[in-house]
Amino acid sequence: MMSTNIVWHKHEVNKASRADSLGQTPRVLWLTGLSGSGKSTTANLLEKKLQAQGKHTYLLDGDNVRHGLCGDLGFSDADRVENIRRISEVAKLFVDSGIIVLTAFISPFQADRNFCRNLLEDGEFIEVFIDTPLEVCEQRDPKGLYKKARSGEIKHFTGIDSAYEAPENPEVHLQYQEESAEQTAERLYNLLSEKGLV
Ligand code: PPS
Repeated sequence: MMSTNIVWHKHEVNKASRADSLGQTPRVLWLTGLSGSGKSTTANLLEKKLQAQGKHTYLLDGDNVRHGLCGDLGFSDADRVENIRRISEVAKLFVDSGIIVLTAFISPFQADRNFCRNLLEDGEFIEVFIDTPLEVCEQRDPKGLYKKARSGEIKHFTGIDSAYEAPENPEVHLQYQEESAEQTAERLYNLLSEKGLV
């Protein structure tokens, strides 16, 4: 149901003044990729790097958010859409507070990633494709979930029996290389900073 009879309040302390007092440009660094692609690890290391440089950040992470805000959602297509809708609205609030937001969700559908992009102002949404091939993710299988998906114990698992739509035009495309997580995060940081995004 839609809310009715509500009017937007314009406050004097706003995104620009908050960003100014934090001395940074708020953005969303939206990491997308398969389960086991390295989204969370990379986002965690990238956040440490940004924080070490005095940036004010917040990391929204799939598994964690599904413990609270999205604890009522499963992995049907409709629930994934709702998951990303809620995260997008939360990310927008953080951006309004002046924060640099990092997100680590599979976010398998292009339309939902576009939803977040369209909620934000031009240049605020940075789509980062963590392009680790399915074979590598399945080989890693850090939580044993691919094994369960292959045996049919888990249904609707991304890449197995649920779709993953690769980003069409991401700001950053991080192609898989055999390297440590620290090297991947360094590579991502360098790509973002070459483009003037961090
Ligand atoms: S989504 O598609 O964006 O709504 O998913 P997300 O919120 O990022 O949650 C992904 C994590 O949930 C675990 N998990 C599953 N992933 C995909 N498909 C199915 N069916 C599933 N069931 C549980 C899994 O640990 C994902 O974590 P990551 O960090 O991506 O491996």
